[in-house]
Amino acid sequence: MSCSRPVKFAHVVYRTRRFEEMLRWYLTVFDGRVQYRNPGLAFLTYDDEHHRFALANMSLFQPDGAETERQGAIGVDHVAYTYASMGDLLENYAQLREKGILPYWCIHHGITVSLYYADPDGNQMEFQVESYDSSEEATAFMKEHFEANPLGVEFDPEEWLARLRAGEPPSGFMVRQGHEPVSPLRGEIGRLVAPPPVRE
Ligand SMILES: [Fe+2]
Repeated sequence: MSCSRPVKFAHVVYRTRRFEEMLRWYLTVFDGRVQYRNPGLAFLTYDDEHHRFALANMSLFQPDGAETERQGAIGVDHVAYTYASMGDLLENYAQLREKGILPYWCIHHGITVSLYYADPDGNQMEFQVESYDSSEEATAFMKEHFEANPLGVEFDPEEWLARLRAGEPPSGFMVRQGHEPVSPLRGEIGRLVAPPPVRE
């Protein structure tokens, strides 16, 4: 079986040490609006998607660093693609696993259920499925729950795949049942902030 294709490109996340300046630039150039922001993270959109850009303030996540130019320290963190359904996302996970390609971060963001992968160069991408049918509901979730947990809660895709294949309705996985524990950031940011636990 071949892998599933995403239905659309969703968003890009940047690491920056010019948080306010970047925020102003994206709001101006894309005639955007802020969906949610705190001192470390900002989520912006310009259409009916709940976010088209997010900015991670590296001056906060890594206060000791000072590099404002080096790609990797700043620049693209990840891009995101949306899949049509939970079944597509998790069966695609199974297909990729058979090819030896595994996600490095499996996280229920609350507004999306997401699997993060890295290509051979280490470029990071998020494969996601929407938790809510409408952007209004997702936006409401961001405004209500991101203050306490702007990152999400980790899950085991293997366990979810088994439950899905056993006949549990996908809708049961979409809406997050709890908001704790707050996941540490993974990926390039994660290595700077909190190293992932070593898997046995
Ligand atoms: Fe993302």
